[in-house]
Amino acid sequence: MRLDKFLTVTATATRSEAARAVRADAVLVNGVPAKSASVHIDPERDTVEFCGKPVVYRAHHYIILNKPEGYVSATEDGKDPTVLELLPPKYTALGLFPCGRLDKNTKGLMLLTDDGDLAHRLLSPRRHVAKRYYFRVKFPLTEAECARFRDGLVLEDGYETKPADIELSPDMTSGVITLIEGKYHQIKRMMLALHNQITHLERISFGPLTLPSDLTRGAWRELTSEEEALLLAAAK
Ligand code: URA
Repeated sequence: MRLDKFLTVTATATRSEAARAVRADAVLVNGVPAKSASVHIDPERDTVEFCGKPVVYRAHHYIILNKPEGYVSATEDGKDPTVLELLPPKYTALGLFPCGRLDKNTKGLMLLTDDGDLAHRLLSPRRHVAKRYYFRVKFPLTEAECARFRDGLVLEDGYETKPADIELSPDMTSGVITLIEGKYHQIKRMMLALHNQITHLERISFGPLTLPSDLTRGAWRELTSEEEALLLAAAK
């Protein structure tokens, strides 16, 4: 693989940043400054340092992001900003996409990846990967309504949802919902079926991943190798 390609696929630098760093002797291959950005390297064997930092080769990228309201879960949109616009330019050429959708006004945990196979498996209805949401509703919920929620209920289009867990807070207007499927506007439509209305929705976990308390709204980071291993295991 060309050195500049290696630096872009590892999200270390854009192609032009890579060329500039090579010219400044800031890219070392096996301890020696690279002569050109077009030299070929073996990502599995050669060691590369960029501006004094080792570059770890990864076949895929897994990014956890705390989605703010107002952003759409898409790779492009003619009208609204997309979650991909929250990442710096060196991530734009990687082919990342959101793994599952959150509504424009839903906040919280969003996974971005370029690993289509993993995304497909995580989102497959057969795998029942759980997603948890903190919610608030307009009117207090009763225990009987929560029981209907847990049994699965019929949406306005006739779709019968799978059982969804709901833990209600003492105020009866907030709590945590766990879904094992992901239909369009699912929680909002489930609440509408109960003649109620969602006023706040935030995803707080996706399978084994929990929204880190230090990841502020709009912030993102690559998953740690431990988190990545947990995610791959959840998709098995
Ligand atoms: N359910 C919804 O209604 N919206 C979301 O964004 C996620 C789940």
